[in-house]
Amino acid sequence: MSSATGCSNQTQIAKLTVEGKEFELPVVVGTENERAIDITQLRKNAGYITLDDGYMNTGSTTSAITYLDGEEGTLRYRGYAIEDIAEHCDFVETSYLLIYGKLPTANELNDFRESIRRHTMIHEDMRSFYNGFPRDAHPMAILSSVVGALSTFYQDSLDPHDARQVQISIHRLLAKLPTIAAYSYKKSIGQPFNYPKNDLSYCENFLRLMFAVPTEEYDPDPDFVNALNLLLIVHADHEQNCSTSTVRMVGSSNANLFASISAGICALWGPLHGGANEACVNMLKQIADDGCNVQKYVDMAKDKKSNFRLMGFGHRVYKSYDPRATIIKKACDKLLGRLHLTDPLFDVAKKLEEVALKDPYFVERKLYPNVDFYSGVIYRAMGLPVQMFTVLFAIGRLPGWIAHWVEMHQSAATKIGRPRQVYTGANLRPLIPMKDRT
Ligand code: ACO
Repeated sequence: MSSATGCSNQTQIAKLTVEGKEFELPVVVGTENERAIDITQLRKNAGYITLDDGYMNTGSTTSAITYLDGEEGTLRYRGYAIEDIAEHCDFVETSYLLIYGKLPTANELNDFRESIRRHTMIHEDMRSFYNGFPRDAHPMAILSSVVGALSTFYQDSLDPHDARQVQISIHRLLAKLPTIAAYSYKKSIGQPFNYPKNDLSYCENFLRLMFAVPTEEYDPDPDFVNALNLLLIVHADHEQNCSTSTVRMVGSSNANLFASISAGICALWGPLHGGANEACVNMLKQIADDGCNVQKYVDMAKDKKSNFRLMGFGHRVYKSYDPRATIIKKACDKLLGRLHLTDPLFDVAKKLEEVALKDPYFVERKLYPNVDFYSGVIYRAMGLPVQMFTVLFAIGRLPGWIAHWVEMHQSAATKIGRPRQVYTGANLRPLIPMKDRT
């Protein structure tokens, strides 16, 4: 496995003057010339910490996995452009690339696929967990619970410092996540769970687990398989986002891989992060039902009193078009065309984008469609229910989470994640006896 490399020797120094004293801070330069002021010794030397709500300016680590340039709209996995990967690789190959740091040879890829195929079933006792969940439970809640529970069934592969155990856990997770996810859907509609079929590809298997019924033959539609493959690839990693940072944070305490990924799934669920794909389709539906009055919703998003945001718009890092949204929008057009489908929500989305991108509010704030804006339209065309959209995101993001967890454990610089704070509460005061409290 490759480890985080590529920081040049620090030839530059930043100077900080506090209370008349000057402190020298090394400058770290990444392989794409990104610069960071290294403050690891700041508190020790100067007695100060830095404050950065939402980590807008804080690099939590160096990393050799994914490069993105938010101004240029660039995204690369391990140095390869997302556009090239989306065109030439499949999701399992992309997972190998992210986790092991290199494109696999034909033999390496075959072995990897074979191993994943052989781990797709979940323990029969685990299947019975699903009986305990309410039928209307959100599948993300089920997903995080069942993934967390993998550490109860696979106690032989929990040691984060044992390379072989980590390997087994990685393969188990990649293989079982689609099965766990599909069962949450089957549970919600009261259908029997299918067993995986190991002669199928990763995406074919997932579609079969989702849609096959015991009474009929099921052949996954190749257009759906291709679209799903593409969507999983473009979601596969996005450097230090909220869920990935969560996986790294939890993993930094030496919690096992299953526990760390379960925490990442919870972080992804929120509507400001991966949950935006579900929220976005619900918003598009609301606009369509409201007579497609796009301007009304653009105005609402601009109104600071309304609390309404255009879901699927804006990004912490991208200040130009999200390259993933470009790929997905093209795939949407292609899939709907091939299926001879028109989806009114796709029309609303395109109209919304057109109106918003001409509006000074969105232009000035550099708010563009993000990865979640068009993905839901494809999922709908494939017959996936809206509650499963964020689950699909989780399946796609899994190799990225794993790659970061592994990189963190391989880095000599890793310490337990433990930010500091600036305390703003009451100073020491005498405890008030109960009888005197008002
Ligand atoms: N609709 C309307 N206004 C917006 C939107 C939006 N979608 N996004 C940002 N803004 C405005 C903010 O109100 C703020 O305006 P102000 O400067 O007048 O106060 C300005 O743009 C900057 O926004 P912040 O919230 O400060 O930017 P931040 O980087 O913290 O948030 C986020 C990024 C969470 C993605 C935000 O753009 C958002 O809420 N988008 C909608 C939810 C969404 O699509 N999330 C998915 C992101 S991609 C992913 O995680 C997979």
